[in-house]
Amino acid sequence: MSKKYILRIYRGHPGHQYWEEFQLDLVPSENVISALMRIQRSPINKNGERVTPVVWEAGCLEEVCGSCSMLVNSVPRQACTALIEPIIQQAKSPIITLAPLTKFPLVRDLIVDRSIMFENLKKVRAWLETDGTYSQGPGPKISPEKQKILYSLSKCMTCGCCSEACPQVNKNSPFMGPAPISQVRLFNSHPTGRSQAAERLSPLMKAEGISGCGNNQNCVRVCPQNIPLTDSIASISRDVTKQMLRDLFSFPERDE
Ligand code: SF4
Ligand code: SF4
Ligand code: FES
Repeated sequence: MSKKYILRIYRGHPGHQYWEEFQLDLVPSENVISALMRIQRSPINKNGERVTPVVWEAGCLEEVCGSCSMLVNSVPRQACTALIEPIIQQAKSPIITLAPLTKFPLVRDLIVDRSIMFENLKKVRAWLETDGTYSQGPGPKISPEKQKILYSLSKCMTCGCCSEACPQVNKNSPFMGPAPISQVRLFNSHPTGRSQAAERLSPLMKAEGISGCGNNQNCVRVCPQNIPLTDSIASISRDVTKQMLRDLFSFPERDE
């Protein structure tokens, strides 16, 4: 007889959430998304009742788009790379819990609205301003060492796991979380982006900015892309202080 396990899912809509269990056959190498797809095809719960199919978000299925973030056994992570068998072995339990992220507004079942992350990226102008109407020739040279750092920062997929893990991101705090701060480091470190550095640092001087970080380092531990978030926070914190002094004494901008 095939081995079985249980997906215990916290589902529902705002104001009405409940746990529901589904028993599934253990399929080698299966991930959480594949298991959810099987439930979608046959939405029969552990009590044998046909229920509304569970809904969730997914896109790339290879840990690039960031859309499938959820709590798997209470840990914020991507469901597409969460393999069932190792999770059962690690937890020493045939029950796996799935729940929506808690730091974002719930839409339904495992789907949350992560718009706030994209709004924060707009606030810090997380892009390079270039005029694409004519050829500007080759871009400035960047050393291989610097490319390595910028590449690691560029892997952010706005998944929200860092905000979920951060105790400073909560209903009572305006703190925007570590991901946009790290994107400021990415774009301010780029030779083309440096000219807008002050504009990007400006929102980080407000209550929602860098002073909101309590430095307990949860974010860096859960980031699926291993982005050096706490290094970014330390680096941007120094830049914010320098920018504040420049603003105070109106020092002229200096290329570094
Ligand atoms: S280091 Fe800062 S941003 Fe990261 S989890 Fe701690 S408080 Fe949040
Ligand atoms: S920094 Fe990491 S955890 Fe945070 S949104 Fe980007 S990829 Fe996700
Ligand atoms: S589906 Fe894109 S990160 Fe999981």
